[in-house]
Amino acid sequence: MGIKNPKIDLFCKSKRKLVCLTAYTTYMAEIIDEYCDLVLVGDSLSMVLYGDKNTTRLSLSTMIRHGKAVRKGIKKSILVVDMPKNTYEKSPDIALKNARKIMKETKCDAIKMEGGVAIAKTIKKLVKNNIPVMGHIGLLPQQVTKSSEYRIKGKTKNEENIVTNDLLAVQKNGAFSVVIEGVTERLAIKLCKIAKIKTIGIGATKKCDGQVLVTEDMLGIFDKTAKFVKKYNNLRKIISNSVKKYNSDIVNHKFPTKKNIY
Ligand code: KIV
Repeated sequence: MGIKNPKIDLFCKSKRKLVCLTAYTTYMAEIIDEYCDLVLVGDSLSMVLYGDKNTTRLSLSTMIRHGKAVRKGIKKSILVVDMPKNTYEKSPDIALKNARKIMKETKCDAIKMEGGVAIAKTIKKLVKNNIPVMGHIGLLPQQVTKSSEYRIKGKTKNEENIVTNDLLAVQKNGAFSVVIEGVTERLAIKLCKIAKIKTIGIGATKKCDGQVLVTEDMLGIFDKTAKFVKKYNNLRKIISNSVKKYNSDIVNHKFPTKKNIY
């Protein structure tokens, strides 16, 4: 297939479960790099950092800006940058131009695109041009504009077939890995059995080769998250308590102390 990236080779040959998380900033990347195999600058950043209702309004330049920031924090993980909506769907040539720009400016190892059958030719074109591609099938956030549309896929035979064909298209056209998001466990297990490339689950099954979560979700920045999120801390509470103490210190003339002045 012509992709020569030793980190991606190791990822594809790994015999243990693969650990993936998102990052949008240099210092978050620096913290998580040690424990991750892959760091994704996901387009979820438009919701997590910019407070947008969905991921559909993110520009290529914003994505690249955050990709560059994350690159500075990463030493060992594979760095993958999402292609924002409307930067790759129109034609393989447009996708190639934009993917090259992302790769050149962010120095990432690979790009990620949502879809399967609909973007098969585009995946093939990018891979042929030495751009490693990570696929993304199942629930596709770039297709979602209202929160009611965040719906698990695979509850009907028709949906099962659509997602299965998407996996086959992504795999046949040379993607090195695929994110499987928001599908029934039954379908996820079927996909993992069929897949010859590394499967990374989010709301899928532990049978996937690895898992990914949005870092801010698993750290507990948000009160409400999807069922598939396991919260490893309550950063919202930690930040709130810290700022409450800061407020009280200032109001009660306890900060700054001699230690904090020149
Ligand atoms: O945008 C994103 O963060 C993603 C992951 C949740 C897989 O696509």
